[in-house]
Amino acid sequence: MATKASDTYKLKPVAPYKVDPPGAIKKMPSPREMHHVHIFSDDNYDAMVEFYQMIFNGEITNVNSHENRMELTFITYDDHDHRVVVIKRPGWGKKPDRPVGLSHIAFAYNSLGELIYIYKTLKAAGYPPPHWTVNHGNSTSFYYKDPDGNEVETMLDNFSSLDTQDYKRFYQFTEDFGDMAEGNFDPDKMVELYESGVPDSVLLDREEVRRMAREGKL
Ligand SMILES: [Fe+2]
Repeated sequence: MATKASDTYKLKPVAPYKVDPPGAIKKMPSPREMHHVHIFSDDNYDAMVEFYQMIFNGEITNVNSHENRMELTFITYDDHDHRVVVIKRPGWGKKPDRPVGLSHIAFAYNSLGELIYIYKTLKAAGYPPPHWTVNHGNSTSFYYKDPDGNEVETMLDNFSSLDTQDYKRFYQFTEDFGDMAEGNFDPDKMVELYESGVPDSVLLDREEVRRMAREGKL
């Protein structure tokens, strides 16, 4: 049953990001940002809600129950009302191991220090380790699976946005770049090097990562 809001909330006038009068939009618009992810779950619903709160340091803005039909938990990690919605669908079943469709959702962070803090927090909480940790050249990325098996990438652009775009256009996947797997690294060794004071300018540089991985140091 829906509750009455009148005592707790007073409606405000709408305030969109921008107003475009009729005729102002003259070409196909691209999204301004990626806003949210909707995930159907079933048996692992509670674990999913816990996982997304932890990995995003998120906060629940609403839980909406519909008898036995479904329940939605809205989670945010910034000033938006929701970024991830986990939806319990009783009887929906499990995600197959090799589903066709979306492979992963990537979330950008501000620093290697942040990526490492997330890694250490999830590890301490007993979550399985990321199944792939790699320097792609353009990014440094940790790939996790949520309790239902959806892939979540936490990543950092290794250069400024435009330089990262140039790296993608002109260097990544060339012969000089080599095999993608040459950028793979051991996350525990990454933590060790980071905490021993090896600078980010080295730890985020794929050529350095490649060299250290070859030498067994990363
Ligand atoms: Fe990705």
